[in-house]
Amino acid sequence: MANTILIGAQWGDEGKGKIIDVLTEDADVVVRTQGGNNAGHTVLIKAQKFVLHLVPSGILRKGKVCVIGNGVVVDPVSLVSEMEGLRKLGVKYKGNLFLSETAHLVFPYHRELDAQRETLQGKNKIGTTKRGIGPAYGDKAARTGLRVLDLIQPDRFKQKLELKIKENNEVLKAFGAKPLLFKNVHEEYRAAGDYLKPFVANTVVLLHEAVRKGKDILFEGAQGTFLDIDHGTYPFVTSSNTTAGGACTGSGIPPHRMDRVVGVMKAYTTRVGEGPLPTENAEVADMLHAMGREFGATTGRPRRCGWFDAVATRHACMVNGIDELAVTNIDGLDSLASIKVCIGYRCDTKRYEFVPNDTEALNRCEPVYAEFPGWEASTSSARKWKDLPPRTRSYLKALAELTGAKLAIASVGPGREQTIVL
Ligand code: GDP
Ligand code: IMO
Ligand code: MG
Repeated sequence: MANTILIGAQWGDEGKGKIIDVLTEDADVVVRTQGGNNAGHTVLIKAQKFVLHLVPSGILRKGKVCVIGNGVVVDPVSLVSEMEGLRKLGVKYKGNLFLSETAHLVFPYHRELDAQRETLQGKNKIGTTKRGIGPAYGDKAARTGLRVLDLIQPDRFKQKLELKIKENNEVLKAFGAKPLLFKNVHEEYRAAGDYLKPFVANTVVLLHEAVRKGKDILFEGAQGTFLDIDHGTYPFVTSSNTTAGGACTGSGIPPHRMDRVVGVMKAYTTRVGEGPLPTENAEVADMLHAMGREFGATTGRPRRCGWFDAVATRHACMVNGIDELAVTNIDGLDSLASIKVCIGYRCDTKRYEFVPNDTEALNRCEPVYAEFPGWEASTSSARKWKDLPPRTRSYLKALAELTGAKLAIASVGPGREQTIVL
């Protein structure tokens, strides 16, 4: 399969988990390289639904090696609970799951600060998942974070945590929030540290050994291009590099060892949280929500929905170097008589063919639409390209052409088998 970076080409929740699960069949190793448990990747296997937050989605296929890389921020208590949940569902990970010793840790004070900052922002809030992601990456950048290495060394951990709790309690007090009790946090994290210790590894060395042996590695992106800290709709973004480059820095595998980039996108657009969404449309949202779709896998919040935005996906293609496209949720548009696609933005007197960097300008952008005839037929049982209605095929070809990459996968349902590989 070659070394493949898989990224979200929109605002997250594109169906990365499902496509990862499909591609893992041909991979040896699956690596998460950024983000934390703000991610929620859904995989449906027969009738069983799995939602993965920190554990790579590849864990659901027997014998695949899964790695939580150095670029991920890890809430160890949450990770243990996720692993235990998987174990109870019969998923085996002993000997197959590895956690980077240099991944940074998320603590309760990060979550509390995340929530307090959001409250303080009021109507300007980001709409975070409140998982402490921003403050944890903040500590990492400020060089004051604690890492997995610290967690598994009891004396060192105790010393460092004591200081951090002291410092952060002062900040929490300033917000008028309840200070944390060192003893409680320490006990909980030490227990998680003991549980996780057998999984901790130098994952950079481990991954390079895999490369040397010619193994195929799949890099599982979290979030999406427009949530990238550098390339997204700042400040309405997450705190990591969700674009293809993040796979290199978050794993220690250099760019020239990567063979291809797969961009996952929905056949329409969704976003959860605040920030610009040029093609947002209430009718599209009502239709999808009425079908019981588009509720967040991590927070349960209803996702904002709109038409496919080809300006955005073209931009995503550029910054990620996308070679191949996986288009998901095609079946979500089955009932429509007519489908709109945004092919340009109009802002004041300007016309944009790319996403402007100024979020305020983007907020003022009006989409310029092209209209496509709907297929008004169920696609969910299609298994081959020729099973799709001609109008669906034309629509997908247009999305690929407008985005500027090759259509490789078409997904017509959440199940493994509801996948058309071109
Ligand atoms: P991720 O974060 O990118 O992995 O995406 P999420 O799992 O958060 O959200 C995608 C949702 O779409 C999940 O509920 C998936 O089960 C579902 N899904 C993925 N592909 C398809 C598809 O082609 N059709 C339908 N109906 N659902 C899909
Ligand atoms: P997956 O991997 C969709 C969004 C939040 C918020 C912003 C910042 O499932 O695609 P954060 O908690 O990261 O500080 O929140 O980013 N967000 C996501 N939206 N899918 C995700 O992950 C997301 N992870 C974060 O809603 O707008
Ligand atoms: Mg998700």
